[in-house]
Amino acid sequence: MSLPFPQPSRWPSDARGRDMAAVTREIKPDLDRVEAQLEAWSQDRNPLTAEVSRYVLRKRGKRLRPALVLLTARLFDAADEETVYLASLVELIHTASLIHDDIIDKAEVRRGEESVHAKWGANITVLLGDYLYIKSIGLSLESRHDRVIRIMADVSARMIQGELDECARGGDMDLSEEAYLGIIENKTAVLFDACARIGAVLGRASEAAERDATEFGLNFGLCFQIVDDLLDITGDERSMGKPVLSDLAEGRVTLPLIHALRTDGRAGRERIAALLGRRDIIPGERKELVGWLEAAGSLEYASGRAAGYANRALAALGRFPDALPRRALAALTGFVLERRR
Ligand code: IPE
Ligand code: IPE
Ligand code: MG
Ligand code: MG
Repeated sequence: MSLPFPQPSRWPSDARGRDMAAVTREIKPDLDRVEAQLEAWSQDRNPLTAEVSRYVLRKRGKRLRPALVLLTARLFDAADEETVYLASLVELIHTASLIHDDIIDKAEVRRGEESVHAKWGANITVLLGDYLYIKSIGLSLESRHDRVIRIMADVSARMIQGELDECARGGDMDLSEEAYLGIIENKTAVLFDACARIGAVLGRASEAAERDATEFGLNFGLCFQIVDDLLDITGDERSMGKPVLSDLAEGRVTLPLIHALRTDGRAGRERIAALLGRRDIIPGERKELVGWLEAAGSLEYASGRAAGYANRALAALGRFPDALPRRALAALTGFVLERRR
């Protein structure tokens, strides 16, 4: 089957996925400052808040969103203390969303360790997630740029909306591709959009340049979540540091399944109905599912869609001067598309 979009193998070498550390080498000192800021925010007079905050804010995630803020700001030559501060702030919001997401998804493992609710129970987890969300909005008041506060508040609300919509459509095998895209845009892509927008605001970008930057961020984010949903089916729990098949377990119908349902009619519905909501899928059943999705062209379709969004992100990037930040953002796009974690 031919894919609707140019594939990464035909991309310029700048945009081919390498490891994350290599891609972000240029901004390593700033990423280290982000770690110091997150560490400072973990401290709290309340010992329990401090303990849980330290647990979730220690460096174990990829720190993709801070990297995006730092690199987009550099597209506009901005690289100051406030850039590091806001790059840290988006990671705080992301962390809050993960904490809540793991309760919703009943995921016991996150970043290769026990999730917060597995360790401390649902009550503490809900409260700490709330605390981190509110804290991030409070901290955004320190920004010299008024628009940043609005961006932070809007993005938090939309992420929650996305999670709500996803829950509401749980178990729905009639979920359309359009509705799926709306959900992943809200729950995931708007935060990447916000990272790029913040970078542009910090760099006092023109309206047109801000539009290009956010077009990059949004498409990057859509690509990111489609890949995440593919990895939930085909990925390896150990390298990802989180459970696989968790979408199926929670009754979430993601892009490969939407495609397969469209292609394989009634037999496909029966097959998926038999798996949705199950947490006890055995390796043989998983293999069978993957084989079926492969035969239906559904994995290829979803990765083609992800590559399509990556291409759109690269096209938006192409409107910026060909310098280091642009190349690093292109490489980050390649990393996200080809990642295994
Ligand atoms: C996971 O995001 C949550 C989603 C939106 C799918 P990441 O894969 O960026 O998580 P960490 O921060 O690296 O753990
Ligand atoms: C996470 O979505 C989205 C947010 C945290 C808002 P998922 O539930 O698909 O992500 P993982 O797979 O748990 O990281
Ligand atoms: Mg989840
Ligand atoms: Mg979820």
